[in-house]
Amino acid sequence: MIGYDKKTRILVLDNKSIGYAVYVNDAGYLETLYFGRSLSDYADFDCVRRAGEFSTPRYDAASGKETGYADAFKFDAAPLEISPHGLADKRGAPVIVRDERGSFITDFRFRSVRLLKEAPAIEGLPHAHGRCETADILLEDSDLHVRAHLYLTLFADKDALVKSFRFENTGKKKVRLTRAMSMQLDLPRCDYDLVHFGGRWAKERDYFCNPVADGVQEVSSNLGRSSAEENPFVFLKERSATMDCGEVIGFNLVYSGNFKFRTFTNFLRGLHITYGMNDEDFEWTLAPGEVFCTPQAVIVYSSHGIDAMSQTFHRFIRENLMTYADNCEYKPVLFNSWEGCTFHFDTDLILSYIDDACKIGTELFVLDDGWFGARDNDLAGLGDWTVNKGKIDLHRVMAHCRERGLKFGIWFEPEMVNPDSDLFRAHPEYALGWGRKELALGRHQLHLDFSNPDVVENIYAQMKAFLEEYPVDYIKWDYNRVVAEHVSAAFPPERQGEIYHRLVLGYYALLGRLTREYPHTMFEGCASGGGRFDMGTLYYCPQIWCSDESDPAQRIDIQFNTSLGYPLSCIGSHVNDSKVASYSAKAALALFGTYGYEMNPNLLTEGEIAELAQTAEIYKKYHRDVIANGTLYHLRAPYEGNHMCMQCVSRDASASVVLFMNKLKEQDMFRFVRLKGLDRKKKYRNTLDGAVHSGEYYLQIGLNLSKEGFAEFSHRLVLLTEET
Ligand code: GLA
Repeated sequence: MIGYDKKTRILVLDNKSIGYAVYVNDAGYLETLYFGRSLSDYADFDCVRRAGEFSTPRYDAASGKETGYADAFKFDAAPLEISPHGLADKRGAPVIVRDERGSFITDFRFRSVRLLKEAPAIEGLPHAHGRCETADILLEDSDLHVRAHLYLTLFADKDALVKSFRFENTGKKKVRLTRAMSMQLDLPRCDYDLVHFGGRWAKERDYFCNPVADGVQEVSSNLGRSSAEENPFVFLKERSATMDCGEVIGFNLVYSGNFKFRTFTNFLRGLHITYGMNDEDFEWTLAPGEVFCTPQAVIVYSSHGIDAMSQTFHRFIRENLMTYADNCEYKPVLFNSWEGCTFHFDTDLILSYIDDACKIGTELFVLDDGWFGARDNDLAGLGDWTVNKGKIDLHRVMAHCRERGLKFGIWFEPEMVNPDSDLFRAHPEYALGWGRKELALGRHQLHLDFSNPDVVENIYAQMKAFLEEYPVDYIKWDYNRVVAEHVSAAFPPERQGEIYHRLVLGYYALLGRLTREYPHTMFEGCASGGGRFDMGTLYYCPQIWCSDESDPAQRIDIQFNTSLGYPLSCIGSHVNDSKVASYSAKAALALFGTYGYEMNPNLLTEGEIAELAQTAEIYKKYHRDVIANGTLYHLRAPYEGNHMCMQCVSRDASASVVLFMNKLKEQDMFRFVRLKGLDRKKKYRNTLDGAVHSGEYYLQIGLNLSKEGFAEFSHRLVLLTEET
């Protein structure tokens, strides 16, 4: 898959589906020759290299003469793997290293390349694994005495390329990294649309699509988490690209903290992309012998439209990123207590919830916020992870679940503390920003200083003690505040630029340790809903609570857009009690994720119970093979009109689930929705009218969804099963 020709100095990565080529030029710079569909011949690059050829004269300090390069290239515009900084190339380097003189000049040149049969292990950070090969390119800035490994990993069975850097100080003096992004990608054209997913709490991942801007454009977070405001998943698409045709290049970062995806186009109309950790307030001291690894950036290539990119991300996340032992297995139907009773419960109420949750097919009961410390509202208790025994008898609750064959799970928010807590009273210095006269509270809470290993250890010990006494099957790991004060009492003034990143490392250290020690406990990520929905979290947590908004008015878009970059199996989706739409509409939508509930189950009517129990049965029958392990097609995008339609097809094409939903009310509709992914020759019975048609019929003519009058959020949930 990967070969390096020493004579031509061309490195080729090709998995027979996509290809990537890099040329090591005379000066030792890595020129990116090609990225796209696999080529049959990688020799014909001369004209690419010579495009806009232009030699930048060089000055030899010893002889006092100008020295050109035999192999000239356009120094400030050639597509490169790593632009230098502080020299003529002003497009924006991915990396800046400063030495003790304060110089900004950073100039990495090629030394050697090693070809590996695996993905690199990135110390302290989540990383991809699986069938792949890696080009480990060693670069050096001999002035700074810093080495950089550029890792390019290509996957055998997916159109995915992973990039990252590893820096090592080989000198005798300290250096400072003031920018350490994960990748650069220079493309020879810029006529793309840039799609990104912005939003806020309860409106995560809205779809924004605009032509790549002239000059500089950025999609980023500086909130200390990947954020609801912008998600790290972005993609470029050819202007004419659709769901199933055209070139699309997707990007994501295996990281949960600040990020920056930056594009730059100049008058030459090439596109210069850098992606990685946000450099705002970032500075990392690298002492002699020390190493710094960047998170991995994942690039997915599709020459067949958005859905092919999206499907590659789905399989990549499930097969090459997640580490949860049971990740490809069935995820139980979950009942969460939060929206039903918030903090206001006692043992009897929870037991009654469990009994009634059983009637709607629940398999995992989760007690959310409010079970610990002095937590009767959100003013107190975070940081004190001991059961409030006066409020809840957790042993009894767990026994009650067990007797009914249910799993049991619980809520934590490990990285936070309320000023009104025993932990904060004993250790005020454990909170970020400690020592300042006034601290900003977010939901009445402060952020714990997870850059300090003592703090992480304290929370670990508390959680461990809990888990030993209460062996739960599931933990919801919440995170309800952004990082406001990125200053730590545990680090000296000159190292405060490390805090944002160290907080993320602390998060991974604790989550990594607990998931390793409890490999069969399922951890679900959460951050005020979907404020930390990212690949870093997915490495440990096979699912993430997608949004606190379950009402279809917003949820249609949230669910659909999230599934463009992330597999349905990781999208925590609950039916709640919002009155905007029927339970059956909300349940149908929640089926396209990991299905669950959040309401007061004591209040459900017999009719509602029957309806929800029926949907739970569909989930149990179809989730694993069709929705989680199958292929997802996005048939109608809600950002393009009044409808949303998604379809999942099992890998053997024997079954399919289709959901069509409209937003606003409509009158007559004559509508045949063409399906995808079915076997043309097979016969399928559909549950809409019970008819049997060939796969060809559904693909060419379509599913007949014609109807007179569609009310708001009316929907059709259609199952297709093979008739043998
Ligand atoms: C956040 C989560 C909710 C719930 C509450 C509890 O808002 O997104 O699902 O867990 O916290 O305080």
